Amino acid sequence: MPETILVERDGRVATITVNRPDKLNALSQQVRDEVLAALAELEHDDSVGVVVVTGAGDKAFIAGADISEFEGRGPMDQREAMRFPRLYDVMASFPKPVIASINGFCLGGGCELAMSCDVRIASEKARFGQPEIKLGLIPGGGGTQRLPRLVGIGHAMRLTLTGDMIGAAEAKEIGLVELVVPHEELRAKTLELAHKIAAMSPLTVRVAKEALRASERLPLTEGIVYERDLFCLCFSTADMREGVKAFLEKRPAVWQGR
Ligand code: COA
Repeated sequence: MPETILVERDGRVATITVNRPDKLNALSQQVRDEVLAALAELEHDDSVGVVVVTGAGDKAFIAGADISEFEGRGPMDQREAMRFPRLYDVMASFPKPVIASINGFCLGGGCELAMSCDVRIASEKARFGQPEIKLGLIPGGGGTQRLPRLVGIGHAMRLTLTGDMIGAAEAKEIGLVELVVPHEELRAKTLELAHKIAAMSPLTVRVAKEALRASERLPLTEGIVYERDLFCLCFSTADMREGVKAFLEKRPAVWQGR
């Protein structure tokens, strides 16, 4: 049984809650290992269509890597702690959509984890930042790569080089989060979004995520070719036949996931 996370189900939506509120849900090695183990299970569970990641308590989503673990570590110890598979990459390439539900401080590794998710929905109270510079460090969970892709190089430089925190409204303005909602509505709005996606064909959702993720690594011309191939692949699925038939018959589609 995991000790630092909670895993709950609500229909086809599974929520992983990092559960160390007294440490602002800091990402210890144990948290990372337990989230990875939970994802490995959810990946093969056909009853789950979407995964939500959030933090316990009212104060923090995740306030970064657990800084207490850095003390006394040499570079090789740190390299071992950052061994593959990395949680950030596993989330980004997870075959089901992962939604970050950001309920408070979203800092350092927490912000990097949120950026590895597919969609970010935040409470008005959420605060964002990459404060590693204040520790004599740089972001190490993909922040120097994912942040500029989301917000542009200028904002990424500003946030990374100052370590400044920004509020939810500014995070939305620069593209770091997609949706901002009143704090007390965060859970309901997150589930609403998650259930909407989970109601689509899981097969098609998977292919769509794969195509969108490819845009992060492929040049445009190659990405367009890849998209065409995936689009044509959809013609092999029963769900595509059903989706088109249902539209023409003016009725809701019934997905089979094949
Ligand atoms: N790693 C380990 N412990 C952390 C932590 C982290 N990233 N962030 C917070 N905590 C712990 C604090 O040490 C404190 O523990 P204690 O009660 O045993 O002393 C507890 O969580 C509460 O945090 P506290 O600092 O008292 O809350 P605050 O409201 O005064 O400040 C923050 C909130 C987020 C501004 C502050 O905790 C902070 O700067 N955290 C570190 C953020 C960071 O640098 N992240 C990047 C890491 S690479």
